[in-house]
Amino acid sequence: MKSLFEPESIAVVGASNDERKIGHIVLNNLIQSNFGGKLYPINPKGGEILGRQAYPSLTAIPGPLEQAVICIPSKYVPAVMEEAGVKGVKTVIIITAGFKELGKEGALLERRVGEIAKKYGMRVLGPNCMGIMNTRHRMNATFTNIRPANGSVAIASQSGAVCSSMLDWSTESQVGFSNFISVGNKVDIDEADLLDYLKDDPATNVIGIYLESADRGREFMRQALKTSAAKPIIVLKSGRTSTGSKAASSHTGALSGSDKVYDAAFRQANIIRVDTLDEMFDILQVFAHMPLPKGDGLAIITNAGGHGVMAADACSDYGLTLATFEKETIEKLKSYLPPAANVYNPVDVLGDASAARYEFAIKTVMEDPNVSCVAVLLAPLDTVDVMKVAELIASYSGKVDMPIVGAFVGGTKTREGLKLLQESKVPCYDSPDKAIRALGAMVRYKKMQEAAGDTTPVEIEGDKQKVRAIIDSVRRSGRTTLSESEGKDILRAYGISVPDEVTCKTAEEAAKAAANIGLPVVMKIDSPDIAHKSDVGGVVVGVNSEEDVRMHFELMMSKVRSRVPGAHINGVTVCKMVEGKEILIGMTRDEQFGPVITFGLGGVFVEIMKDVTQSIAPLTRNNVDTMIKSIRSYPILTGARGGKAADINSLKDVIFRIAQISLDFPDVSELEINPIMVGDEGKGTYAVDALVVLRRKADEDAISKLGD
Ligand code: COA
Repeated sequence: MKSLFEPESIAVVGASNDERKIGHIVLNNLIQSNFGGKLYPINPKGGEILGRQAYPSLTAIPGPLEQAVICIPSKYVPAVMEEAGVKGVKTVIIITAGFKELGKEGALLERRVGEIAKKYGMRVLGPNCMGIMNTRHRMNATFTNIRPANGSVAIASQSGAVCSSMLDWSTESQVGFSNFISVGNKVDIDEADLLDYLKDDPATNVIGIYLESADRGREFMRQALKTSAAKPIIVLKSGRTSTGSKAASSHTGALSGSDKVYDAAFRQANIIRVDTLDEMFDILQVFAHMPLPKGDGLAIITNAGGHGVMAADACSDYGLTLATFEKETIEKLKSYLPPAANVYNPVDVLGDASAARYEFAIKTVMEDPNVSCVAVLLAPLDTVDVMKVAELIASYSGKVDMPIVGAFVGGTKTREGLKLLQESKVPCYDSPDKAIRALGAMVRYKKMQEAAGDTTPVEIEGDKQKVRAIIDSVRRSGRTTLSESEGKDILRAYGISVPDEVTCKTAEEAAKAAANIGLPVVMKIDSPDIAHKSDVGGVVVGVNSEEDVRMHFELMMSKVRSRVPGAHINGVTVCKMVEGKEILIGMTRDEQFGPVITFGLGGVFVEIMKDVTQSIAPLTRNNVDTMIKSIRSYPILTGARGGKAADINSLKDVIFRIAQISLDFPDVSELEINPIMVGDEGKGTYAVDALVVLRRKADEDAISKLGD
């Protein structure tokens, strides 16, 4: 990556004397940015371009060459790649468009480019990208004429249009960039590679990424987790529509669309996800200019009660707490502020507040040990000198050990003040909500860092041979869906408890089985062709007499036969009725990220309630703790309203075991236990259902590429 970010020599292939051509602009940008290394224009006509000797080809350059930027039409690119390989170039940036974004032919051309790069061991940025800027290295190898200020924000973007918006924002907001990378079609270099470099880049304090897809999802997570331990990563992921649910046959599949998988991946990698470019800009700004808060206590200072209330409301939405001031703070505020002022948080310095009154309040709350960040709100009342207050807040720039931000709420009257603060590198927003959201992101990052803890995944030993034998036998019979009893055998092989049960062929057998197991019992249809048994009348719970068992047997067989004609039916399973809360634990497999584990409140209403959460296996203890705590019904598990606490530890254990099955057997594409019954504390967890689906053979090559 060093040869991408800090090359000592660059050739611009397609450099031209025609000022309108991209090759001219790139060369000119490199010259204008005072690039300190060697620069070579390449043009078949030779001669001189922008005062420098042009060479007819890369191989004509005397001495070694580290980087080539290609700005010639796509059909000529493969030949230049070969030439670059022969020359020993380390990194090629392909600005040229006209590759896979154009369809099949372009995709083939792109693949060829990738193959040539591999053959010679070259790295490639692009194609179809804007290039790269590294302000510390004084290198602008892009074709944009927007020059961001030097600063600590690194940006990587998959879209050229978003790139130019970000650059323009940078000049307007005065937030400077350390690096700026347009990744384009990502034939080779992707965000994971960039993070690997940026993690150790001393000039970068915060990273912003605009992402459309992460094809190497697992590698992206790995690099992001390492990087986020050192510096925050803010990601704007577009394309929230769900595609993952299309082919799924389980509830889990329907609940885990691809966007939810990205959510899970980002959470596990300690990435802050944002929804809009505005939010991205707001948050980058505060990370770029302010120190991290030590805790989550916020002090609000305002000259207008309404804004203070709005900011206080936003606190809980964004994970901040309204700090409770110490007695001394309150006394001190009382001693100076007018009697009508509110000295409790939010501090209302009143509509006629002077800059001096604001200053006293800011200084006083910053001394309070419960305060970790400050938001200063201003409404443009006729009695306030907006610029004086702005100058006062600006004076804190670079001199504070906690974040302070402004929210100047208005339009014409607040504009100049807001601008002054931005120029002074104090984040200032046009609404209380945005200010609190930005501070909330800092608190969230701080908490993520603190909670990161042990990143070792939990590993479990299961009976692999037994599971392999079950899968092979299902494959031999030409099926991809396992019967419930086969699914439960897999669970047992990995130490998951399943209640006693017997599959019966006749009503009489069923009555006998019920007597042996002990009443009451649950009766379920056993068929590999029926995924959702209760939908077709294939489940009866709480059957309390042998007589009823016989009756339900006959009734169930006839109902199911008429509702699913042609389904292969093994019989009716009679099983012990276990008590507990109904939970769902499932697994689906994502193309980019691998096995996705779903946990939540189970039962037949799971798709309506949608109270589930996802994580990507392998799982750490921390991941599973977060999963369990993040569902809305968590209080039900801990014993809300006098109820007994559930056996949460045994639930966690099952989650780890399901994750292990999914890692050990990549050909299991879906697995679901719905419900799994969790008993009271110490009473364990029983899987009363099991749905296991295998990958179709054709899909398996794709999974094996995912590796672990
Ligand atoms: N080696 C070196 N120079 C070469 C060459 C080669 N193999 N083949 C051609 N050239 C020269 C040309 O002679 C020309 O120089 P000249 O002006 O002195 O005649 C120069 O390179 C440029 O070639 P040209 O054919 O004029 O191309 P162009 O400048 O019109 O377009 C691209 C080239 C790359 C800009 C264009 O194909 C393209 O992809 N544009 C879109 C870029 C884009 O949007 N990228 C994504 C952004 S997010």
